Amino acid sequence: MRKITLSTLNKMKAEGDKFVCITAYDATFSRLISDAGAETILVGDSLGMVLQGHDSTIPVSIDDMAYHTQCVLGGNPQSLVIADLPFMTYSTADQAMDNATALMQAGAQMVKMEGGTWLSDTISRLVERGIPVCAHLGLTPQSVNIFGGFKVQGRTPKEAKSILANAVEIQDAGASLLVLECIPAELAADISSKLDIPVIGIGAGPGTDAQVLVMHDLLGLSNARARFVHNFMEGQATIQDGLKAFVDAVKSGDYPREEHCYR
Ligand code: KIV
Repeated sequence: MRKITLSTLNKMKAEGDKFVCITAYDATFSRLISDAGAETILVGDSLGMVLQGHDSTIPVSIDDMAYHTQCVLGGNPQSLVIADLPFMTYSTADQAMDNATALMQAGAQMVKMEGGTWLSDTISRLVERGIPVCAHLGLTPQSVNIFGGFKVQGRTPKEAKSILANAVEIQDAGASLLVLECIPAELAADISSKLDIPVIGIGAGPGTDAQVLVMHDLLGLSNARARFVHNFMEGQATIQDGLKAFVDAVKSGDYPREEHCYR
């Protein structure tokens, strides 16, 4: 596999080829994930839950993210590496610039931020200065205390309209990718077809351009019970086989299925 770039992902969207993202936090798994054929690796702030044992991503610091981004790069993955800006590290454009710089210097090729319209100016400023941005809409876990839990978003016409409007605005601001988390499958498919940038879904049905799962969830190592979580280790002998089973299922359209979707 050649080094994956944003051009690769844009071409895949244009040609209707699904791509895959898996979270990683260290060198060993980043190598295994890259070898399994996942085009992108997300150094997710989910590390607060799956590595640090917190009940949300809120305690994660920028130093944690920079450290794990460096670890992931140590696996020398051919996949494109995206790193999350954690809670309250991008609440102003200047703060975002400093913290995104730290992640890019740790080796990330793109940073991810949760939010829509309010981030437009920040996204434009980062992109103008050479930092590609992946936005994240729907169930944005850093706002769990606003949502009152990890709840499906976009089920009412008003919420659905707002998510679509936010998606268009962040694309216009210069975002290169968008993650849509836990929204109805029809809404995610509609947004993916309306945007030029590739859309990565998690709990967002089969109509997005790509799928992401937290590695511990797809390997059956977590106690996550969300309906989109599937244990890809079932029937597999090795971790490498489990990772490959997820990659193959996304690319063949076998995941996500109806039972993994919200309506
Ligand atoms: O932190 C993370 O792992 C994420 C994914 C759930 C998309 O943001």
